[in-house]
Amino acid sequence: MSSIVRKSLKEIMREKIRSGEWKPGDLIPSERELGEQYGISRMTARQAITELVNEGLFYREQGKGTFVSRHKITQQLINLTGFTEDMKARGQRPDSRVISAQMIPADEALAERLHIKVDQMIFRLQRLRLADEEPLAIEISNLSFMGCERLLTEDLEKNSLYRLLEEKYGLPLMEAEQELEAGLMSSEESQLLKVSVGSAGLFMRRTTYTERDLPIEYAKSIYCGNKYVFFTHMKREQLMP
Ligand code: GLP
Repeated sequence: MSSIVRKSLKEIMREKIRSGEWKPGDLIPSERELGEQYGISRMTARQAITELVNEGLFYREQGKGTFVSRHKITQQLINLTGFTEDMKARGQRPDSRVISAQMIPADEALAERLHIKVDQMIFRLQRLRLADEEPLAIEISNLSFMGCERLLTEDLEKNSLYRLLEEKYGLPLMEAEQELEAGLMSSEESQLLKVSVGSAGLFMRRTTYTERDLPIEYAKSIYCGNKYVFFTHMKREQLMP
């Protein structure tokens, strides 16, 4: 029961950030106030707040209270989500600039990632991703599925790629594998992201699957190293006696 209540309080608080009612830097109500307002125990309110602190949406200041985070964007690493969803969950406005969108023949590395033949035509999309007009990441998505050339006609500045794939193309995204690596940005990358040359970046590679063993996307992204926190929740497996 309390985990359900806690979940909905988390959702309520997320919604307040999303809608702009709570802005970065705002002090949120105390556990006691939230408990009274929503008719739940102080303990349950505390747990919900702690979970959002762990996810990076709030931060605590000793003796002052809990505030809505300002700078870093937390991307959780548990559920398969896209950039648009991540930014919305964070209460920010996602945006994209298409740098290029074209059909290209798959080279050996891409063919291996996407389980296709070398030279098979795939759709390649390069976008600059922004949140509240601030550049956050550069993403190159390589997509392979029957009829992927139809993506050339889509407005990929206004639409979420994942949403299009699922809702318009009927391709449910089931799972993904992702690697993260720290590195330094090239001058072209830092220019696009409006950071100084040689800034730290988080380099991410993701293979997304529609069904097991059917990869649909292989994406490479560079996130501004100083603006992201990747969050993951871990559970220790029961040790065998
Ligand atoms: C994330 C992933 C990409 C994916 C993108 C889709 O950022 N790293 O692999 O292509 O989301 O985002 P959207 O649905 O906003 O276009």
